[in-house]
Amino acid sequence: MLEEVQQIESKAVAEIQAAEDEKILEELRIRHLGRKSPLRLVMGQIGQLPAAERPASGQIAGQAQKAIQQAFDDKEMALRQAGDTGSALDVTLPGRRPLLGRAHPLAQLTDELVNVFQGMGFDIADGPEAEDEYHNFDALNTPDDHPARDSHDTFYLEDTGLLRTQTSTVQIRVMEKTPPPIRIISPGRCYRKETVDATHHFAFHQIEGLYVDRGVSFADLKGTIEAMGRQVLGEDTKVRFRPHFFPFTEPSVEYDFTCSICHGENATCSICKGTGWIEIAGAGMVDPAVFENVGYDPEEFTGFAFGMGLERIAMIRHGIDDIRLFLENDLRFTRQF
Ligand code: PHE
Repeated sequence: MLEEVQQIESKAVAEIQAAEDEKILEELRIRHLGRKSPLRLVMGQIGQLPAAERPASGQIAGQAQKAIQQAFDDKEMALRQAGDTGSALDVTLPGRRPLLGRAHPLAQLTDELVNVFQGMGFDIADGPEAEDEYHNFDALNTPDDHPARDSHDTFYLEDTGLLRTQTSTVQIRVMEKTPPPIRIISPGRCYRKETVDATHHFAFHQIEGLYVDRGVSFADLKGTIEAMGRQVLGEDTKVRFRPHFFPFTEPSVEYDFTCSICHGENATCSICKGTGWIEIAGAGMVDPAVFENVGYDPEEFTGFAFGMGLERIAMIRHGIDDIRLFLENDLRFTRQF
């Protein structure tokens, strides 16, 4: 009998130790410690043994039962500590991370420029993207037959309107409603009928600036543009003006900043093409004809206006080589900024 009990015990202990979860363990408990377990059957036979053998046999069977119970208790504890409670909830799995959003690179640049100009006393003005021809062209001294309209072909809406080609429309809208002095910037989306490629898009963003008061000079314009360049591209940034033409400013310029990538030291720089200068946008002194259109007295007031394309600045800043990326909403792109 001793041999039989030892076999029962070692088999039960081995099976219990190998149990993979609590469900299996519970089945083993019933099988090895329940009323119909092999050990109980053996114990039931003790009464039929000769009286002299009974106490020793009872002791052996009792020790085996304790050993099996101990193996069961140990295993139950071990499974609990491993966190396997046998249910579908696994509290040891790593949690799900909430997806953190972030500002689009153009929104980041807009915020930054808005900050720079607010620091110089400019207010923010807004205007509609669906405009009329008057605010986009005529009031900006660009009548129907003006050749400057050619470079601003756009999308015309069914009921006479159009999608604005420039944020300069906001200059007119603000001046129509507000007497001078005025100091505003207006960021926003613009449209042109462009064939889309790596550097052109039919939808893009500009920031317009306008400052009108008594005695505003070209030197104020240059100082303002230079202050912006230094804050956005670095303290050592210099600005240069090149003569240009815009219908609503006179004189007009295009302005360039020194190349923040190579500082003019790399003849093969992909940003400035080795010239040391990067073209940013246009500016000039508000044409007296525009003041007349909005009812300002050009003899009393002068002002400057400037505009810039945000995609271009963001591309220079981050080394982005394709303007289409800004509008594709591809998270692999926008997550990088
Ligand atoms: N609106 C002009 C353009 O889109 C830029 C500009 C703005 C020029 C303000 C002068 C003054 O080309």
